[in-house]
Amino acid sequence: MKKVKVCIENLAEFARELLDNLDGNCIALTGNLGAGKTRFVQEVAKNLDIKERVISPTFVIMKEYKIISDKRFKKLVHIDAYRLQSEDDLKVFKIKEILENSENLIFIEWPERLGQETLKSCKKLSIKNISENCREFSY
Ligand SMILES: Nc1ncnc2c1ncn2[C@@H]1O[C@H](COP(=O)(O)OP(=O)(O)OP(=O)(O)O)[C@@H](O)[C@H]1O
Ligand SMILES: [Mg+2]
Repeated sequence: MKKVKVCIENLAEFARELLDNLDGNCIALTGNLGAGKTRFVQEVAKNLDIKERVISPTFVIMKEYKIISDKRFKKLVHIDAYRLQSEDDLKVFKIKEILENSENLIFIEWPERLGQETLKSCKKLSIKNISENCREFSY
């Protein structure tokens, strides 16, 4: 496992690097409230030239953004599973089908709510708050 300290001014570069080296199409983001999960996805979206404002999908659970400038991915899917209650909720947005489509780039906040089995294909990235503008990213 790698551990790196990434401060806000280097977040864009770190997001780019992670994306370039990503095999697979899914990243499970763990970390406390306010760790920087959503902020990381926003940086990735910027890197992919997504012009829409990427906001936290806490209340809608899932948001999708069209990607036009990437060779691999056509859609960014941002999931915040924080409010999911039961297995039934999964069916609402058909997570398995979303994961099976390799043209989807998927980020999942609070993956603990979905379970290991569903997300076994996802790369794990965990974020720890170490100071106001710096985080420790482990992956
Ligand atoms: N190096 C950094 N990386 C990421 N975020 C940072 C960093 N430094 C400061 N921040 C700030 O920390 C805050 C993180 O909030 P964010 O909404 O991304 O957290 P979250 O992990 O998604 O929380 P939640 O579980 O509530 O959804 C943002 O205001 C962001 O600008
Ligand atoms: Mg968030």
